[in-house]
Amino acid sequence: MDSEQRYEKTAKILTDNGQGQLLAFYDQLPDNMRQHLLAQIERLDFSQIPIWIEKYIKNARTMTLANILEPAPAYPSEPTTLAEQQKYELARKRGTELLSAGKVAAFVVAGGQGTRLGFDGPKGNFPISPIKNKTLFQLFAETILAAGKKYGTELCWYIMTSPLNNRATREIFESNHYYGLDKSGVFFFEQGTLPNFTFDGKILLADKANIAASPDGHGGSLKALYKSGALADMKARGIEYISYWQIDNPLVNIFDPLFVGLHALDGAEMSAKALVKSRPTEKVGNFGLVNGKVIVIEYSDLPDEQANKRKRDGSLLFELGSIAIHIISTAFVEKLNRGGFALPIHRAVKKISHIDTSGNAVTPTEPNGIKLETFVFDALPLAANPVILKTIRTEEFAPVKNATGENSPDVTRQMMIDRAAGWLAATGVTVPRRPDGLPDCIIEIAPSFALSARDVKAKKDRIPPISAGDQLYLE
Ligand code: UTP
Repeated sequence: MDSEQRYEKTAKILTDNGQGQLLAFYDQLPDNMRQHLLAQIERLDFSQIPIWIEKYIKNARTMTLANILEPAPAYPSEPTTLAEQQKYELARKRGTELLSAGKVAAFVVAGGQGTRLGFDGPKGNFPISPIKNKTLFQLFAETILAAGKKYGTELCWYIMTSPLNNRATREIFESNHYYGLDKSGVFFFEQGTLPNFTFDGKILLADKANIAASPDGHGGSLKALYKSGALADMKARGIEYISYWQIDNPLVNIFDPLFVGLHALDGAEMSAKALVKSRPTEKVGNFGLVNGKVIVIEYSDLPDEQANKRKRDGSLLFELGSIAIHIISTAFVEKLNRGGFALPIHRAVKKISHIDTSGNAVTPTEPNGIKLETFVFDALPLAANPVILKTIRTEEFAPVKNATGENSPDVTRQMMIDRAAGWLAATGVTVPRRPDGLPDCIIEIAPSFALSARDVKAKKDRIPPISAGDQLYLE
């Protein structure tokens, strides 16, 4: 097909779908940019776009599941019965075997735009550790290195970026020499994007040659793993389990033998860690069961009445919050993709920079359009035997989301110090504390020193006495 025919074909599809504005500046573009724009339009899925416009752009989706939602069962963080104790021991053993056999890969989703934090560049490059100011990328890299040594195997790291931050992310790794990791064990891949819409369903142009588009959400990872060849790479390396986490949570326990082991023993296809919410309406997804299937329902979709319901013992009926930590079987990702799956679409009203009908750049100060995305937890109801494992917030969840206040870097740093202090205290080290109970010192434990409280025990002799006001870095 020559350029003319290609243009005609594209223009007809756009006109038929009421999106002719995308070619408004075509005549003003040089030839290479014309091809570039046509290629973007050809990638738009017009079998879905009219449906999305009706369902999510012009009409906000109404969630009705809340009425039939039941609480989801979960494994406790610590076993409470003898049978559970035995199962946990078996799971830890199985998880350790799988880790030692190199069957578990690390997988971080880092394709988000991090708009709330407002940091320039990929969020993984945000400095967070309390003394050394290590970035999130560095902390995870050191964790993977240390775990590789602990389990006597190379552990691979898969990193999902987006077309908006892929290059910058790779450059950061290059200039930091992969933080000591072997380059051959680090695999970057890009997620897909979805177009941005005005409130009346028109796709926006970012500039005359580019459609306004944003990453397709962390749910895009399940397709991108497959499409990018990451899954094939995992298969070639004999990897069967994917340990999934978000770039913003430095407390994550990436290689948790108990979690991996429970997932494997129960024959789960996808599993999740959960914590007990700090308040009924905490801004995390809620675990529930619908027709026997585990789902995560967004906090905004759980009516207050449901969110506040309590059990006889006073605890919340829907107490389990999602913290975006999963084990996903590679076979499950393959099965989904072979079957042509589609995750539900979610809408978010956002400020979207674009050009207007005269071609002038517009940077809105108020939300002016809709971005669409998919969420990884929406794959849980498609998975067989999902395990939900409760965890303890102070041990595993301190995401950096906002510049100030809740989930801000200050809070995360304090939680990193608190956890380190707790690990030392658990081995009998005296940690000076302020009257309010917080450590009266700054402690940073490098992954090379310990990956868990258990690891600290073995190195107790190397920990010096700590006085009030001290800064202690253990490596
Ligand atoms: P968030 O929902 O916190 O979004 O992503 P975000 O883009 O990082 O930040 P805001 O909302 O713009 O402030 C949770 C995790 O999912 C990843 C993010 O990188 C983060 O690790 N993510 C999110 C993706 O990988 N791709 C996406 O399209 C969206």
